[in-house]
Amino acid sequence: GRPERANNVAALRLLARRRLPRPIFDYIDGGADDERSLRRNETAFADYELVPDVLNDVSAIRTGTTVFGQPSRWPLMLAPTGLTRMFHDHAELAVARAAARHGLVYGLSTMGTTRLEDLAHAFDGPKVFQIYIFKDRGLTAEFVARCREAGFHGLALTVDTPVAGNRERDRVSGLSLPPRLTWRSMLSFALHPSWSLPALTGKKFDLANVSHKIDALAGGPMSLFDYIGGQFDRSVTWRDVEWLAREWNGPLAIKGVMTPEDARRSIASGATGVMISNHGGRQLDGAPAPVDQIEAVREAVGGGPDVICDGGVRRGSDAVKAIALGATACSIGRPYLYGLAAGGEAGVDRVLTLLTEEFERTLTLAGINDVAAIARRHVRRRFN
Ligand code: FNR
Repeated sequence: GRPERANNVAALRLLARRRLPRPIFDYIDGGADDERSLRRNETAFADYELVPDVLNDVSAIRTGTTVFGQPSRWPLMLAPTGLTRMFHDHAELAVARAAARHGLVYGLSTMGTTRLEDLAHAFDGPKVFQIYIFKDRGLTAEFVARCREAGFHGLALTVDTPVAGNRERDRVSGLSLPPRLTWRSMLSFALHPSWSLPALTGKKFDLANVSHKIDALAGGPMSLFDYIGGQFDRSVTWRDVEWLAREWNGPLAIKGVMTPEDARRSIASGATGVMISNHGGRQLDGAPAPVDQIEAVREAVGGGPDVICDGGVRRGSDAVKAIALGATACSIGRPYLYGLAAGGEAGVDRVLTLLTEEFERTLTLAGINDVAAIARRHVRRRFN
């Protein structure tokens, strides 16, 4: 089971499942409630067919584009994910380095386990920071200042998380706060000592970007989670987006937008792009697959803004479909986390190599020699 030998994302997922204690794997793999949106995200891509052109010269394929104002070797970015160190000790830095090596933009989560300054000092690839508007606006303003100082190229404001989604796999395994591990979960941890022993130090759960707020409070990681949980603000509105756009004054995408109306409102409020996302099926179960919203969103915002689509991208061909429907780029969450869990930086590298090859091969077979030439006619909704 070496990640270098895996031939697709599905194979890396199986490797990750073997390497991780089951509750940790389920935390990556799972979604909210009945996991309908989680499943739909993937099957929606299968409902589109690729319609090739022939007899175009495809001896050289141009894939370069711009995402968050940064050059990108092809239209893919790495979505922000929290608690990345839980999946491998190489954590965010390994993911960011692999992304930079592949010429792709990396997104760091507020809930990440690497300080944004440490990430920025350790590599100089294109990077965006995923931010929240917290109850304490001062904390959000502090992040804006830190990101500017550290040289982040853009911000992604996540707006689909006024409360945490109902992740039932985590409830079953007992991966909750406080933990209520079942015997079965404890056995799984015991059977994965290479994961479990280092976890005893607590570093795997260190929310490094916000932990300084906790130092003042007595207590360990639990009070940290409580603090963060308590910071989610359900009263956030478009006025806060306007405030953030002024404060940051740079590339800003609103992450979690699903409708053309909200996409238009995002741009009117000062954002430079939107990320169509249902948080990988982890928040509102029943939300449509992001790929099905691309056309309407692109029509609403016109040609200028970034329209980035995430959720269920598991093949390079999925990205071709999204772009044909009007997306600027796709982003991926679980695929690189599976790679990371399977083999650290080499595992992430493997995922990105596979997806890159798939993307280029798909374009070649579809008779498209330039990403800019991917058109609506190249994709068709299945009839049956
Ligand atoms: C996420 N996602 C996420 N999004 C966000 O804005 N902030 C965050 O901290 C996280 N954390 C997170 C953890 C894990 C384990 C996963 C799987 C996802 C959502 C992420 O950015 C992205 O929207 C989805 O992962 C895309 O769907 P796929 O590619 O996982 O199907």
